[in-house]
Amino acid sequence: MNWNDLPRPIVALAPMADMTDLPFCLICKEKGAPIMFREMVSSEAIIRMSPKTLKMCEFDERERPIVQQIFGADPNTMAKAARIIEEKFKPDAIDINMGCPVYNIVSKFNGASLIREPKRAGEIVRKMKSAVSVPVSVKTRLGWDDDRQILDFVKVLEDAGADLISIHGRTKAQGYSGTANWERIGEAKRNTTLPILVNGDIVDLETAKIALDQSGADGMLIARGALGNPWIFQRIINGLEKGIDPEEPSMQERFDTIRKHAQLQVDHFGEKGLIKLRKHLPWYFKGMSGIKDFRSKLVRISTVQELEEALASSNLEL
Ligand SMILES: Cc1cc2nc3c(=O)[nH]c(=O)nc-3n(C[C@H](O)[C@H](O)[C@H](O)COP(=O)(O)O)c2cc1C
Repeated sequence: MNWNDLPRPIVALAPMADMTDLPFCLICKEKGAPIMFREMVSSEAIIRMSPKTLKMCEFDERERPIVQQIFGADPNTMAKAARIIEEKFKPDAIDINMGCPVYNIVSKFNGASLIREPKRAGEIVRKMKSAVSVPVSVKTRLGWDDDRQILDFVKVLEDAGADLISIHGRTKAQGYSGTANWERIGEAKRNTTLPILVNGDIVDLETAKIALDQSGADGMLIARGALGNPWIFQRIINGLEKGIDPEEPSMQERFDTIRKHAQLQVDHFGEKGLIKLRKHLPWYFKGMSGIKDFRSKLVRISTVQELEEALASSNLEL
């Protein structure tokens, strides 16, 4: 895969820990997501050959093109982990997490703290680029505590040889508060020749259009807007191409998709897959009112039968 050759705008599922695993990526793919970023995995765990972490990198051929994200602070460890992932799993590209704001990540110079360590960040990209043959991209934020830090940071990443940069339009200090600054992403885009994906607060066709307009980006990454809403990709693509936003998926379509998602969870994780499905289920009904009891049943299911009973008990019209 070459990021420069993909049709514009690129529309991709953003990496989400505990969420963008094999079953959810397959569901998104089936509903029209063109590209998937898998959840981050630890470079240290990969080089230790942790079975749990290696399993997180397994994917189904139908998910392609797929991007595996890794995090870490040591350039050699990151390069070694990238090579292991490339050899064992053959993803289409590898992405580096330079945006995660969580304390136990940033306190070890991982994730967003790399924005404050440009030399180390550049070294990570350089070493990984020479270790693998697939494209190496970076996902980051506007800055650590200043939303102009990205303007120099994109140049550091470009000089180091990165192939693409995805930017969440908030600083680490902001966490998830406030709104994503798509215009600042546009300034960053103008400071580099690399393709840029705009990220943050894209939840429908309207926000996708404004984010693209304001940033001039080559495409977008969608995270929370895709949870319980794998239809978002096709709706945005159709809307941008044809100027129409297809109707909301019917309740029957939502139920059928949940059943398919549940089956994939069981196929991939065994029975415990349904416990892992719990956190996805309320998202399928986000914004709907009068479903408090139904929602609390959904987050307690442990078996396919309990899921069916919960679905049957809803008073939602199919
Ligand atoms: C549950 C959850 C898990 C996330 N995990 C990751 C991750 O593993 N790697 C990463 O780079 N970003 C991660 N993010 C950040 C998202 O990829 C994205 O940058 C952020 O949510 C903003 O985009 P959105 O407004 O479309 O949600 C995560 C976000 C959420 C909500």
